[in-house]
Amino acid sequence: MESSSLIPFSLIFCSILLSFASNGIEARRLQYISHLISEDLFDSIFLHKDDNACPARNFYTYDSFIQATEVFPLFGNTGNLDTRKREIAAFLAQISHETTGGWATAPDGPYAWGLCFKEEMNPPSIYCDSTNTQWPCYPGKSYKGRGPIQLSWNYNYGPAGKALGFDGLRNPEIVANNSLIAFETAIRFWMTEQKPKPSCHDVLVGKYVPTEADLAGNRTAGYGLVTNIINGRLECGRPNDTRVNDRIGFFKRYAQLFNVDTGPNLDCDNQKPF
Ligand SMILES: *[C@@H]1O[C@H](CO)[C@@H](O)[C@H](O)[C@H]1NC(C)=O
Ligand SMILES: *[C@@H]1O[C@H](CO)[C@@H](O)[C@H](O)[C@H]1NC(C)=O
Ligand SMILES: *[C@@H]1O[C@H](CO)[C@@H](O)[C@H](O)[C@H]1NC(C)=O
Repeated sequence: MESSSLIPFSLIFCSILLSFASNGIEARRLQYISHLISEDLFDSIFLHKDDNACPARNFYTYDSFIQATEVFPLFGNTGNLDTRKREIAAFLAQISHETTGGWATAPDGPYAWGLCFKEEMNPPSIYCDSTNTQWPCYPGKSYKGRGPIQLSWNYNYGPAGKALGFDGLRNPEIVANNSLIAFETAIRFWMTEQKPKPSCHDVLVGKYVPTEADLAGNRTAGYGLVTNIINGRLECGRPNDTRVNDRIGFFKRYAQLFNVDTGPNLDCDNQKPF
Protein backbone atom coordinates (compact mmCIF):
# COMPACT_ATOMS: atom_id res chain seq x y z
CA MET A 1 0.00 0.00 0.00
CA GLU A 2 2.52 2.51 1.10
CA SER A 3 5.03 1.82 -1.65
CA SER A 4 2.42 1.82 -4.41
CA SER A 5 1.05 5.16 -3.22
CA LEU A 6 4.57 6.57 -3.08
CA ILE A 7 5.21 6.03 -6.78
CA PRO A 8 2.47 8.24 -8.17
CA PHE A 9 3.25 10.85 -5.56
CA SER A 10 6.90 11.06 -6.52
CA LEU A 11 5.98 11.14 -10.19
CA ILE A 12 3.67 14.07 -9.60
CA PHE A 13 6.33 15.73 -7.51
CA CYS A 14 8.91 15.26 -10.26
CA SER A 15 6.68 16.63 -12.95
CA ILE A 16 6.04 19.71 -10.82
CA LEU A 17 9.78 20.18 -10.42
CA LEU A 18 10.31 19.69 -14.15
CA SER A 19 7.72 22.26 -15.08
CA PHE A 20 9.42 24.68 -12.70
CA ALA A 21 12.79 23.88 -14.23
CA SER A 22 11.66 24.49 -17.79
CA ASN A 23 9.85 27.78 -17.12
CA GLY A 24 11.50 28.73 -13.89
CA ILE A 25 14.99 29.71 -14.95
CA GLU A 26 13.86 32.12 -17.63
CA ALA A 27 11.01 33.40 -15.47
CA ARG A 28 13.26 33.98 -12.49
CA ARG A 29 15.82 35.82 -14.58
CA LEU A 30 13.18 38.11 -16.02
CA GLN A 31 11.04 38.61 -12.95
CA TYR A 32 13.34 38.49 -9.99
CA ILE A 33 13.78 42.22 -9.58
CA SER A 34 10.09 42.86 -10.10
CA HIS A 35 9.37 40.50 -7.19
CA LEU A 36 11.43 42.80 -4.97
CA ILE A 37 10.22 46.07 -6.47
CA SER A 38 6.71 46.09 -7.85
CA GLU A 39 5.43 48.91 -10.02
CA ASP A 40 3.40 50.13 -7.03
CA LEU A 41 6.50 50.32 -4.83
CA PHE A 42 8.41 52.09 -7.62
CA ASP A 43 5.59 54.63 -7.93
CA SER A 44 5.45 55.24 -4.18
CA ILE A 45 9.21 55.84 -4.16
CA PHE A 46 9.11 58.28 -7.09
CA LEU A 47 5.94 60.15 -6.20
CA HIS A 48 6.62 63.21 -8.35
CA LYS A 49 8.88 62.12 -11.22
CA ASP A 50 6.13 62.66 -13.80
CA ASP A 51 4.88 65.99 -12.45
CA ASN A 52 4.77 68.93 -14.83
CA ALA A 53 7.39 70.55 -12.63
CA CYS A 54 9.91 67.82 -13.52
CA PRO A 55 11.84 68.20 -16.80
CA ALA A 56 12.20 64.40 -16.96
CA ARG A 57 8.46 63.77 -16.71
CA ASN A 58 7.41 60.50 -18.40
CA PHE A 59 11.01 59.58 -19.20
CA TYR A 60 12.06 57.24 -16.39
CA THR A 61 9.56 54.39 -16.59
CA TYR A 62 9.28 51.33 -14.37
CA ASP A 63 9.54 49.07 -17.42
CA SER A 64 12.79 50.60 -18.63
CA PHE A 65 14.27 50.24 -15.14
CA ILE A 66 13.30 46.57 -14.98
CA GLN A 67 14.59 45.95 -18.51
CA ALA A 68 17.91 47.60 -17.71
CA THR A 69 18.39 45.36 -14.66
CA GLU A 70 18.15 42.32 -16.94
CA VAL A 71 21.44 43.35 -18.55
CA PHE A 72 23.11 43.00 -15.12
CA PRO A 73 21.91 39.71 -13.63
CA LEU A 74 23.81 40.18 -10.36
CA PHE A 75 22.26 43.56 -9.59
CA GLY A 76 19.78 43.22 -6.72
CA ASN A 77 20.23 39.48 -7.09
CA THR A 78 23.15 38.73 -4.78
CA GLY A 79 23.01 37.71 -1.11
CA ASN A 80 19.98 37.22 1.10
CA LEU A 81 16.63 38.95 0.73
CA ASP A 82 17.58 41.90 2.96
CA THR A 83 20.86 42.41 1.10
CA ARG A 84 19.03 42.45 -2.23
CA LYS A 85 16.40 44.89 -1.08
CA ARG A 86 19.02 47.13 0.56
CA GLU A 87 21.10 47.22 -2.61
CA ILE A 88 18.13 48.25 -4.74
CA ALA A 89 17.04 50.85 -2.18
CA ALA A 90 20.58 52.27 -2.05
CA PHE A 91 20.85 52.43 -5.82
CA LEU A 92 17.50 54.19 -6.16
CA ALA A 93 18.46 56.59 -3.36
CA GLN A 94 21.76 57.57 -4.98
CA ILE A 95 20.20 58.14 -8.42
CA SER A 96 17.48 60.15 -6.68
CA HIS A 97 20.01 62.52 -5.19
CA GLU A 98 21.67 62.85 -8.59
CA THR A 99 18.37 63.79 -10.25
CA THR A 100 16.42 65.38 -7.41
CA GLY A 101 13.85 68.10 -7.84
CA GLY A 102 13.15 68.21 -4.10
CA TRP A 103 13.53 71.06 -1.64
CA ALA A 104 13.11 71.28 2.13
CA THR A 105 9.37 72.08 2.15
CA ALA A 106 8.43 70.18 -1.04
CA PRO A 107 5.12 68.30 -1.15
CA ASP A 108 5.64 64.85 0.47
CA GLY A 109 9.05 66.03 1.66
CA PRO A 110 12.40 66.50 -0.09
CA TYR A 111 12.90 62.76 -0.61
CA ALA A 112 9.84 62.16 -2.79
CA TRP A 113 11.33 63.99 -5.79
CA GLY A 114 13.92 61.63 -7.24
CA LEU A 115 14.27 61.17 -11.04
CA CYS A 116 12.99 64.69 -11.74
CA PHE A 117 15.86 65.63 -14.09
CA LYS A 118 17.41 63.74 -17.00
CA GLU A 119 20.20 66.15 -17.85
CA GLU A 120 22.27 68.76 -16.10
CA MET A 121 20.59 72.15 -16.41
CA ASN A 122 23.41 74.70 -16.30
CA PRO A 123 26.60 72.80 -17.01
CA PRO A 124 29.69 74.82 -16.16
CA SER A 125 31.56 73.23 -19.08
CA ILE A 126 31.24 70.54 -21.76
CA TYR A 127 33.14 68.11 -19.50
CA CYS A 128 35.76 67.40 -22.12
CA ASP A 129 39.12 66.17 -20.89
CA SER A 130 41.12 66.88 -24.02
CA THR A 131 44.20 65.19 -22.59
CA ASN A 132 42.37 61.88 -22.87
CA THR A 133 43.36 60.45 -26.24
CA GLN A 134 41.68 57.07 -25.79
CA TRP A 135 38.22 58.67 -25.65
CA PRO A 136 38.58 61.89 -27.66
CA CYS A 137 35.77 64.44 -27.53
CA TYR A 138 33.76 64.82 -30.71
CA PRO A 139 33.53 68.43 -31.92
CA GLY A 140 30.42 70.21 -30.74
CA LYS A 141 29.37 67.55 -28.24
CA SER A 142 28.79 68.08 -24.54
CA TYR A 143 29.54 65.36 -22.03
CA LYS A 144 27.49 66.98 -19.29
CA GLY A 145 25.56 64.99 -16.71
CA ARG A 146 22.80 62.82 -18.19
CA GLY A 147 20.62 59.97 -16.99
CA PRO A 148 19.96 58.60 -13.50
CA ILE A 149 23.61 58.66 -12.40
CA GLN A 150 24.37 61.85 -14.36
CA LEU A 151 27.05 60.26 -16.48
CA SER A 152 29.60 62.92 -17.33
CA TRP A 153 33.01 63.42 -19.05
CA ASN A 154 34.17 61.99 -22.37
CA TYR A 155 36.23 59.34 -20.58
CA ASN A 156 33.04 57.98 -18.99
CA TYR A 157 30.71 58.32 -21.99
CA GLY A 158 33.16 56.50 -24.26
CA PRO A 159 33.53 53.30 -22.21
CA ALA A 160 29.84 53.26 -21.21
CA GLY A 161 28.81 53.43 -24.85
CA LYS A 162 31.30 50.77 -25.85
CA ALA A 163 30.02 48.41 -23.16
CA LEU A 164 26.33 49.08 -23.76
CA GLY A 165 26.28 49.41 -27.54
CA PHE A 166 25.99 53.11 -28.33
CA ASP A 167 28.42 55.74 -29.55
CA GLY A 168 29.03 57.63 -26.34
CA LEU A 169 31.42 60.14 -27.92
CA ARG A 170 29.39 61.05 -31.02
CA ASN A 171 25.95 60.57 -29.53
CA PRO A 172 26.08 61.36 -25.82
CA GLU A 173 22.51 62.80 -26.04
CA ILE A 174 21.09 59.31 -26.26
CA VAL A 175 21.60 58.93 -22.49
CA ALA A 176 18.91 61.60 -22.03
CA ASN A 177 16.77 60.36 -24.93
CA ASN A 178 16.50 56.63 -24.41
CA SER A 179 15.41 55.61 -20.94
CA LEU A 180 16.62 52.03 -21.25
CA ILE A 181 20.12 53.21 -22.11
CA ALA A 182 19.84 55.84 -19.38
CA PHE A 183 19.15 53.23 -16.69
CA GLU A 184 21.80 50.94 -18.15
CA THR A 185 24.49 53.62 -17.76
CA ALA A 186 23.53 54.00 -14.10
CA ILE A 187 23.47 50.29 -13.29
CA ARG A 188 26.71 49.76 -15.20
CA PHE A 189 28.37 52.46 -13.11
CA TRP A 190 27.01 50.75 -9.98
CA MET A 191 28.34 47.32 -10.98
CA THR A 192 31.78 48.35 -12.25
CA GLU A 193 34.94 48.52 -10.18
CA GLN A 194 37.14 51.50 -11.06
CA LYS A 195 40.40 50.98 -9.26
CA PRO A 196 41.22 52.00 -6.61
CA LYS A 197 37.46 52.23 -6.06
CA PRO A 198 35.48 49.05 -5.54
CA SER A 199 32.08 48.74 -7.20
CA CYS A 200 29.06 50.03 -5.29
CA HIS A 201 27.56 46.58 -5.78
CA ASP A 202 30.47 44.78 -4.10
CA VAL A 203 30.35 47.18 -1.15
CA LEU A 204 26.68 46.48 -0.50
CA VAL A 205 26.70 42.71 -0.99
CA GLY A 206 29.70 42.01 1.27
CA LYS A 207 32.25 41.34 -1.48
CA TYR A 208 34.37 44.41 -0.79
CA VAL A 209 37.84 43.64 0.56
CA PRO A 210 39.46 46.85 1.89
CA THR A 211 43.11 47.51 1.09
CA GLU A 212 45.57 48.94 3.62
CA ALA A 213 44.83 52.40 2.25
CA ASP A 214 41.09 51.80 2.62
CA LEU A 215 41.52 50.75 6.25
CA ALA A 216 43.68 53.77 6.99
CA GLY A 217 41.02 56.01 5.44
CA ASN A 218 38.07 54.53 7.40
CA ARG A 219 36.59 53.24 4.17
CA THR A 220 34.46 50.51 5.71
CA ALA A 221 31.49 48.96 3.93
CA GLY A 222 28.14 50.73 4.01
CA TYR A 223 26.07 53.32 2.21
CA GLY A 224 28.60 56.04 3.15
CA LEU A 225 31.28 54.22 1.18
CA VAL A 226 28.99 54.17 -1.86
CA THR A 227 28.66 57.95 -1.55
CA ASN A 228 32.44 58.11 -1.33
CA ILE A 229 32.74 56.10 -4.57
CA ILE A 230 30.25 58.37 -6.36
CA ASN A 231 31.46 61.80 -5.26
CA GLY A 232 33.70 61.45 -2.23
CA ARG A 233 36.32 63.86 -3.46
CA LEU A 234 33.83 66.70 -3.05
CA GLU A 235 31.57 65.38 -0.28
CA CYS A 236 33.39 63.03 2.10
CA GLY A 237 35.81 63.58 4.97
CA ARG A 238 33.95 66.71 6.09
CA PRO A 239 31.29 67.08 8.76
CA ASN A 240 27.58 67.45 8.04
CA ASP A 241 27.77 67.87 4.26
CA THR A 242 24.39 68.93 2.81
CA ARG A 243 24.74 66.70 -0.25
CA VAL A 244 25.69 63.66 1.82
CA ASN A 245 22.73 64.33 4.12
CA ASP A 246 20.44 64.46 1.10
CA ARG A 247 21.74 61.09 -0.14
CA ILE A 248 21.16 59.62 3.33
CA GLY A 249 17.66 61.12 3.55
CA PHE A 250 16.61 59.38 0.35
CA PHE A 251 18.07 56.08 1.52
CA LYS A 252 16.31 56.18 4.89
CA ARG A 253 12.95 56.78 3.23
CA TYR A 254 13.45 54.08 0.61
CA ALA A 255 14.79 51.50 3.06
CA GLN A 256 11.62 52.02 5.07
CA LEU A 257 9.46 51.52 1.97
CA PHE A 258 11.40 48.31 1.20
CA ASN A 259 11.04 47.30 4.84
CA VAL A 260 14.76 46.75 5.30
CA ASP A 261 17.33 48.34 7.63
CA THR A 262 19.93 50.70 6.21
CA GLY A 263 22.97 48.85 7.57
CA PRO A 264 25.99 50.52 9.23
CA ASN A 265 28.20 53.43 8.11
CA LEU A 266 25.58 55.62 6.47
CA ASP A 267 27.83 58.67 6.45
CA CYS A 268 31.25 59.29 4.94
CA ASP A 269 32.13 62.28 7.12
CA ASN A 270 35.07 60.42 8.68
CA GLN A 271 36.20 58.72 5.45
CA LYS A 272 39.13 59.76 3.37
CA PRO A 273 38.11 60.28 -0.27
CA PHE A 274 39.69 57.95 -2.87
C1 LIG B 1 17.00 63.93 -28.24
O1 LIG B 1 17.31 63.79 -29.62
C2 LIG B 1 16.89 64.86 -30.41
C3 LIG B 1 17.23 64.53 -31.84
O2 LIG B 1 16.80 63.26 -32.16
C4 LIG B 1 17.59 66.13 -29.98
O3 LIG B 1 17.12 67.22 -30.75
C5 LIG B 1 17.30 66.38 -28.53
O4 LIG B 1 18.06 67.47 -28.07
C6 LIG B 1 17.63 65.18 -27.70
N1 LIG B 1 17.19 65.41 -26.35
C7 LIG B 1 18.02 65.34 -25.35
C8 LIG B 1 17.42 65.51 -24.01
O5 LIG B 1 19.21 65.11 -25.47
C1 LIG C 1 38.89 57.76 11.03
O1 LIG C 1 37.82 57.88 11.96
C2 LIG C 1 38.24 58.34 13.23
C3 LIG C 1 37.04 58.28 14.16
O2 LIG C 1 35.92 58.91 13.60
C4 LIG C 1 38.82 59.73 13.09
O3 LIG C 1 39.28 60.21 14.33
C5 LIG C 1 39.96 59.71 12.10
O4 LIG C 1 40.43 61.03 11.87
C6 LIG C 1 39.53 59.11 10.78
N1 LIG C 1 40.66 58.95 9.88
C7 LIG C 1 40.73 59.55 8.70
C8 LIG C 1 41.94 59.26 7.87
O5 LIG C 1 39.87 60.33 8.28
C1 LIG D 1 24.13 70.31 9.95
O1 LIG D 1 23.80 71.30 9.00
C2 LIG D 1 22.47 71.75 9.08
C3 LIG D 1 22.26 72.72 7.97
O2 LIG D 1 22.57 72.13 6.75
C4 LIG D 1 22.20 72.37 10.43
O3 LIG D 1 20.85 72.75 10.53
C5 LIG D 1 22.53 71.35 11.53
O4 LIG D 1 22.40 71.94 12.78
C6 LIG D 1 23.93 70.83 11.35
N1 LIG D 1 24.18 69.76 12.31
C7 LIG D 1 25.32 69.64 12.98
C8 LIG D 1 25.42 68.49 13.92
O5 LIG D 1 26.24 70.43 12.85
